[in-house]
Amino acid sequence: MGSPESSPPRAAQTRIAKLREQIRHHNHLYHVLGQPEVSDSEYDALFRTLLDMEARYPALVTPDSPTRRVGGAPLEPFSKVTHERPLLSLDSAVTLDEVRAFDKRVKKDLAADHIEYAVEPKYDGLSVELVYDDGVFVRGATRGDGITGEDVTGNLRTIRDLPPRLAKAGPVPGHVMVRGEVYMRLPDFQEINRRLTDNGDKTFANPRNAASGSLRQLDSRITASRPLALTCYELMLSSDPPPATHEAAVTLLGAWGLPIPAQRRTCRDIEEVAAFHQHMLRQRERLPFEMDGIVVKINAHADQRRLGEKSRSPRWAVALKFASRSARTQVVDIEVSVGRTGALTPVAKLAKVNVGGVSIEKASLHNMEEVARKDVRVGDTVIVERAGDVIPDIVERVPVAGERRRAPFAPPTCCPMCRSAVVTEGPLHYCTGQTVCVAQLKGRIEHFASKGALNIEGLGEKTVEQLVDAKLVTDLSGIYRLREEHLLPLERFAEKSAAQLLAAIEHGKRPSLERFLFGLGIHQVGAHVARLLADQFGSLETLMTATEERLLEIHDVGPEIARSVVCFFAEPRNVSVLNAMKALGVEVQNVPRDTTAPARELPLRGKTFVLTGSLDRWSRREASQRIQDLGGKVAAAVGKQTHYVVAGKEPGGKLDKARQLGVSILDETQLIELIENAGAG
Ligand code: IVH
Repeated sequence: MGSPESSPPRAAQTRIAKLREQIRHHNHLYHVLGQPEVSDSEYDALFRTLLDMEARYPALVTPDSPTRRVGGAPLEPFSKVTHERPLLSLDSAVTLDEVRAFDKRVKKDLAADHIEYAVEPKYDGLSVELVYDDGVFVRGATRGDGITGEDVTGNLRTIRDLPPRLAKAGPVPGHVMVRGEVYMRLPDFQEINRRLTDNGDKTFANPRNAASGSLRQLDSRITASRPLALTCYELMLSSDPPPATHEAAVTLLGAWGLPIPAQRRTCRDIEEVAAFHQHMLRQRERLPFEMDGIVVKINAHADQRRLGEKSRSPRWAVALKFASRSARTQVVDIEVSVGRTGALTPVAKLAKVNVGGVSIEKASLHNMEEVARKDVRVGDTVIVERAGDVIPDIVERVPVAGERRRAPFAPPTCCPMCRSAVVTEGPLHYCTGQTVCVAQLKGRIEHFASKGALNIEGLGEKTVEQLVDAKLVTDLSGIYRLREEHLLPLERFAEKSAAQLLAAIEHGKRPSLERFLFGLGIHQVGAHVARLLADQFGSLETLMTATEERLLEIHDVGPEIARSVVCFFAEPRNVSVLNAMKALGVEVQNVPRDTTAPARELPLRGKTFVLTGSLDRWSRREASQRIQDLGGKVAAAVGKQTHYVVAGKEPGGKLDKARQLGVSILDETQLIELIENAGAG
């Protein structure tokens, strides 16, 4: 345990006072005025610095410090630990030339021709000290300012990678001090943010913040619930003589059961270090954790000792940093892009910025809810970050002092490509112009012509692409306008193949209603729903006038399907395409009513039931199954077509609706009777 420094230096007093003033200012802007001027991560950094300084100079802690008043409750900081050996930081280099200069310098200082290096990833987490006495983990602390850190022993014990005892691979020294990094793997980081979002909590901006926030929890149970990882890269102190090289020391750590960097290497010279750097740069996109560079260490401990240390960093190591994968930039515009399925995605157009060596001009905002949640508007300053090889994300908005913000982004009410109406589904928005939208056209024609739909042979991907690119087909009805002279100039077409395609199109002009509906590619209408709709409505004309209520009466049709179908036929562009098809000779076949003859024998055939409340004898599913087995239909909502509403215990609004519409109401006993009689009949 460390003893607090007796009289804090003036500089520390001034710095602490300044930090408190800044934090109070930002608290006021955020909580009172609702106009923050810094990003959450910048605020967190200020707060953390103050916490660190107060841990180092407890004499300067005052009861009114912002750190004591988080959400009204005083925050008990961790107890202080003075490290037995300082946890130094590293000098950094950003170019290979700087590392070559480092190599030159050490060779000169050591009067050596060859220097061997140990290289490792630079993990982007937080540095910790671990102490083992007689092979047992007794204490762990954060790095803090390098001299004094916070005692987080209890929290570290919850990390699965950390062995409570060292494995006895030979004699274990009586006293060992190890340095490592606590970090969070990318999939775990994404998962934890998903969990936080589900609970309505604030998410972490990056894995490093997530690791640090999780380790520095006052309640170890919270730390235990966070998937933290650990890697150990320095044997700082050992009561037994340590191995001669860094590599041997790390291998020994591994033999003791401590997790060690898998991607480490020894390099015979600085050019091998350069090759490792290149290799890790490529790996960076693939590895499941964030690294912000590589660490280059002289391998021989004797050489390390000879070179010694400066006040804050060793002379025997250097960090070669990768370019940061996050940057600040401005949102120039928010556009909406239309995917092949009609999904509308907001995309932020950005003032060009270099992020980790890649020039970035746009970032996905995923969906309209996300835009609202992050409150990103045109003109805003934002932080973009690339994680993995995906399109960059907007991490957060950075408030700028005195900025005059534009109005919040308004979700589109019509498709930016074809102006068709938009249908929403949870946080997602879709264009309903499936038959006309250029963004969707190629995919839609291919689907329309596919085996499960109209089965038009010869209308595959390549042909469709040519037809759409040459503007020969501009909506779904266009395929029925094709003539030989349109096809002949196209690649891969000759007289015979053109005639074959035209014949196939002609041949498909009398599709069944079911296949035709499936082929239209109405959002949410797959083969199964298409069959249900065809069975229920019998003709395209009847379906076109169906209301949401009527659709909801069909078993298996929920509100999203119902809304999507109604929106599709409510879109005038779709209707004119359907009319055009009709004019061009397409005759969708009505469902012949008598093909369902065998079902007619079933006693509940033609009767539609709606269930509300719970039944004693059957679950809803079982009751539905029995009704269906007897030829009846079970719908989700009550309408004029409903024959019976079965009211169980605690029935819902469907019962009122049934009363309003004068639909027959059955209680459980009556339902059982009906089913049993019908079954016997
Ligand atoms: S060695 C005296 N090795 O980088 C040498 N550090 O400022 C001590 N880091 O705070 C550090 N990965 O948290 C070393 N393989 C690695 C590392 C590593 C990440 C961090 C460490 C330190 C910072 C350098």
